[in-house]
Amino acid sequence: MSSVEKTLSIVKPDAVERNLTENIKEYFLKNNLKIVKEKKIQVSKDEAAEFYRVHQTKPFYDRLCNYLSSGPITVMILEGENAIKENRRIMGATDPKNAEDGTIRKKYGISIDKNSIHGSDSVENAKKEIEFFFKN
Ligand code: CMP
Repeated sequence: MSSVEKTLSIVKPDAVERNLTENIKEYFLKNNLKIVKEKKIQVSKDEAAEFYRVHQTKPFYDRLCNYLSSGPITVMILEGENAIKENRRIMGATDPKNAEDGTIRKKYGISIDKNSIHGSDSVENAKKEIEFFFKN
C-alpha cells in the first residue's frame, strides 16, 4: 500500500561542513521527495541528547550527541509517496561501508558516526522528529 507521508531528514555536521547539502537535496528531488521545510541550525548537546533519546542505552550515545551538536546541521521535512521508506532507501545502510551503490551514504559517508545524514525510521518517529525541529 502506498500513501503520502512526511519524514525528517538531517544533513549532519560532516556533510554540511563539506558543502554537500545541495548535492544531497538533488537525491531527494530526483526520487520524488519534495522538500517542504528546511533550516540550517546548530543544536546544543542537551538538544541532541533529547533528539536521540531512543538510543540512550547504547554505548555510542554520548559520542553521537557530541557529534550532532559539533557543528551546523540542515534539517528538512520531506514529503512524498512512502517518504519514510523511500528516504531510508536513498540514504543507504547506517554504516557507509555497507551502503548500496547509488545511495547518499555510499557516496558521501565517512564512517558510521560521520554518515552524513539521518532519516526517521517509522511513522511514529517521523511525527516526533518533525515536531522536535518544527514546532510552530
Ligand atoms: P542515525 O541514522 O542518525 O541514527 C543514530 C546514529 O548513531 C546513526 O545514524 C549512526 O551515525 C550512529 N551510530 C554510531 N554507532 C552506531 C552503531 N553501532 N549502530 C547504529 N548507529 C550507530
